[in-house]
Amino acid sequence: MSNLIEMTGISKSFGKVQVLKDVSFSLKKGEIHALMGENGAGKSTMMKILTGIYPKDSGTIRVRGQEVNFSGPKEAEQMGIAVIHQELNIIPQLTVMENMFLGRDLCYGRTGILRTREMKQKTREYLGRLGVDIDPDAEAGSLSIGQQQMIEIARALSLNAEVLIMDEPTAALTDREIEALFEVMRDLRAQGVGIVYVSHRMEEIFAICDRISVLRDGIFVGTENIKETDLDTIVHMMVGRQLGERFPERNVAIGEERLRVEGLSDSGAIRDISFSARRGEVLGIAGLMGSGRTEIARALFGVSEKQSGRIFLDGQEIHIRKPDDAIRHGIAFVTEDRKGEGLVLGLSVRENIALTNLGRLSKNGVVSSVKEAGFVREMIQRLNIKTSSGEQTVKSLSGGNQQKVVIGKWLGIQPKVLILDEPTRGVDIGAKKEIYNIINELTAVGVTIIMISSELPEILGMSDRILVMHEGRLAAVMDKTEATQEKIMHAATGGK
Ligand SMILES: Nc1ncnc2c1ncn2[C@@H]1O[C@H](COP(=O)(O)OP(=O)(O)OP(=O)(O)O)[C@@H](O)[C@H]1O
Ligand SMILES: [Mg+2]
Repeated sequence: MSNLIEMTGISKSFGKVQVLKDVSFSLKKGEIHALMGENGAGKSTMMKILTGIYPKDSGTIRVRGQEVNFSGPKEAEQMGIAVIHQELNIIPQLTVMENMFLGRDLCYGRTGILRTREMKQKTREYLGRLGVDIDPDAEAGSLSIGQQQMIEIARALSLNAEVLIMDEPTAALTDREIEALFEVMRDLRAQGVGIVYVSHRMEEIFAICDRISVLRDGIFVGTENIKETDLDTIVHMMVGRQLGERFPERNVAIGEERLRVEGLSDSGAIRDISFSARRGEVLGIAGLMGSGRTEIARALFGVSEKQSGRIFLDGQEIHIRKPDDAIRHGIAFVTEDRKGEGLVLGLSVRENIALTNLGRLSKNGVVSSVKEAGFVREMIQRLNIKTSSGEQTVKSLSGGNQQKVVIGKWLGIQPKVLILDEPTRGVDIGAKKEIYNIINELTAVGVTIIMISSELPEILGMSDRILVMHEGRLAAVMDKTEATQEKIMHAATGGK
C-alpha cells in the first residue's frame, strides 16, 4: 500500500527545549493510525508540523511521494489534509453554519452573494452523517462542548480530505456520538482515506485502529500492528515501565456527613436533586452528556441561574450565590472546560496555580513569593506537570498538562468538598493514575470528592457511591458493591 504521508527525521525545539528528536511517521491509504504517548510527548506538535502550523527544524515531509513545506494549514487543506484540533477552534459568536464554512463561504460565481441555503443544507447533511441534530442557525457558543466538537468534525469531513488528523476528537463526546463517529471513520477508511488518530482512550485505539505509533519524550519508540500487540505492550512503550493496576486500591475510612443537598433545582437543567456525601467519600456522578451532571456542580459552586433548594455543609445550612461564597465555604470546582473557565491561558503555570490561592499564600494582602514558589513547585512535582519551569505560559503546555494545572490550582485552597468534572479527560494513562492517587490522598484526610465522569470504568474504579442522572433528575443511587456498567447505563438511559 502506498504512503499518503511520510515524515522522516523530524526535529523541533521551542526555545531551548527540544520536543521532537528525529521522529518518523507514515500514514497509508485506508488505514487508521493511532499516535500515542504521554502528555507532552509531542503528538500534537508532530501533527502541527505536518499541517504547517509550526515550522520544523529539520526532517522531510512527503505527501503522496511529493516533498512539501506547508507554510500554514490552508496549504495543507488544499493538499487534502484536514485536522480536528485538540483545542476547539469554534468561534462562539458565530452560528453553527458560519463555523462550518469559516474562510470558505460558498458564493454565486464572483458575486459575493452567499449561497446560504446550500450551506445550511450541507451543514445539516454532515452533522446528520454524524448522527447529531443541531440547528445550523444556532449560536455555536450556546452548544455543549460535545456539540461544538461535532461541528469541528463535520467541518473536517466536509473538506473531503484524503488525510484526516483527529487530535483527541472523542474527549467531549457521548458514547452514542463516539459510535456515530467510528461509523463515519470506518466508511472513510473503506474509501481509502488515511486517518491519524490521537487518543488516550485505550479501548478506542483497540476498537478502531489498524496501526499504532508511540512517542516518548519527543522520541519515536515504534510502530505496531494493532492485531499483533496488546495493552501492556503499548503502555510499556509509552511510559517505559510497568504501570500495574489502573485504579489504585481505596482503603479510606468514610466519616460523618459533610454535604447535604435538598431539592436542588435550576432554571431547567436539573430538578429536585437530593443527596448527601460524607467525609472521605468519593461520590461519582454518572449519566449521559446533557443529563444535568455538570449542572449539579454549577449549582453547588454558585454559577447557575435561578437555583433553588438547600445546601448544608457539616450540618449548617449555607447560601451560595456566587463562586466566592462556595470558595469561602471550602467548595472547589475543577471544570470540564479548562479553556473557558479553568485557566488563564496567557498567564504562566505559576500564576494560574497561585490565582485561587492568593489568600493562603499572602500575608496582610501581600503575596509571599517564597511561599508561592514553594507551593507551585510542590504542585508541579506532585502532579508531574511537564513544564520547563513555573514561568512557562499555560497556552504552550500540552493538553493533558493544562488539565493538571487546573487541578493544582484548586488543591491549594485545601477544599472540604472538591468537585471534579471529567478530571482525567485528555490525561495520559500514567497521569490518570497519579490523579487517582491524589483523590485517595485527599479523601484520606477527610476531603469529600464529587467526581463527574463519562468513563464508566473510572466511575466504577474510584467511587464509593454513584449517583446516576437522567434528564435532569436523579435516576438512581448505587453503592459501589452493587454497581455495574450495565446497571448504570440502564438507569442513565431512563430504565427503571
Ligand atoms: N508553542 C509552544 N511553545 C513552547 N512549548 C511548547 C509549545 N507547544 C508545545 N510545547 C511543548 O512541547 C511539548 C510537546 O507538546 P505536545 O502538545 O506536542 O504534547 P502532546 O503529546 O500532544 O500531549 P497531550 O497528550 O497532553 O496533548 C510539551 O512539553 C509542550 O510544553
Ligand atoms: Mg496534544
